[in-house]
Amino acid sequence: MKLKLITSIVFIWHHFYIMDKSLFLKIKLSTIQPSKILTFNVYVLINGHFTLYLKLGDAFDPIKLQTLMSRSQNDFFYVHHTEWKNYKEYIQEVLRSTTASPLEKATILRESSVALMEELYEHPDVNVALNNSRPIISDFVSFIKHEPEAMGHLISLSGHDFYTYNHSLDVAIYSLGLGQIIGFSEKELEELGIAALFHDIGKRNVSLDILCKKGNLSPEEWTIMQQHTTYGFAILNQNPTISDGIKNACFEHHESFLGNGYPQQLTGQEIHPFARIVAITDTYDAMTTQRSYNVPLKPYDALRIMKEQLSGRYDPQMLKALYGVLFQLKAA
Ligand SMILES: [Fe+2]
Ligand SMILES: [Fe+2]
Repeated sequence: MKLKLITSIVFIWHHFYIMDKSLFLKIKLSTIQPSKILTFNVYVLINGHFTLYLKLGDAFDPIKLQTLMSRSQNDFFYVHHTEWKNYKEYIQEVLRSTTASPLEKATILRESSVALMEELYEHPDVNVALNNSRPIISDFVSFIKHEPEAMGHLISLSGHDFYTYNHSLDVAIYSLGLGQIIGFSEKELEELGIAALFHDIGKRNVSLDILCKKGNLSPEEWTIMQQHTTYGFAILNQNPTISDGIKNACFEHHESFLGNGYPQQLTGQEIHPFARIVAITDTYDAMTTQRSYNVPLKPYDALRIMKEQLSGRYDPQMLKALYGVLFQLKAA
């Protein structure tokens, strides 16, 4: 009887364990190196159960990996949260290796970060999310510092779909490129990267009906949408240790250089430099990214519109710097 009870408790516990999605983190197969020994177990989700697919100590066969990736099943692999550290170290090792090409490294860095963005953006405690994003941004900063072609490759991987997580990561990547060109220090770049990642954090207080609406917003909906800057500032302001740059990028990224933006109608240098950068990279990413209801603009068309039709909205020096960032893309 006692044994039966223990068995059912173990069964129930195990059942919940395998059902609880929060214990597993999604990874993309493009972050896995063929033939490299795994330092973590890889799971797949079958009928709601996480099932071991490949165990620690084994390696993906190169041909099998190719086939799986071409079947676009690469969204459905998982690592248990207790082995997440091992996965991160595995990624770090690949980024340091001399065998992976700069493009492979850029892909691995971006894809491993996209998987984490969902986690970060949904985390109820913004402080935890912010702190967890620091190592990700540091990886990007050190990659662009040590690898001359890094930014070009990272940009070439951006803009394929417009989900909040991808958008935020892309805005961070463009912003880092821009910050690097205008001579920001490593420390400033790290703050800027985090600021860009969280610029739209206030959208968590805007209803999905408004956020995902396909057609034009009504004037009332538009007013609510515009409040995301104020909501975001309020969320970040709860913690005095969050830097002004991060808070202001969130609060002021819809201000306009000539003063007709929102919410405060600031002008020129009154707008924090991080916010002036994010204003540019945010619009650029929105214009050049594929969404279900629009055709993305080509980089130079987007830049031309920003320079001619929207001139006055952006800091002209910073807009010029974006050209510099995109020339790197061309060179790559
Ligand atoms: Fe925004
Ligand atoms: Fe945005």
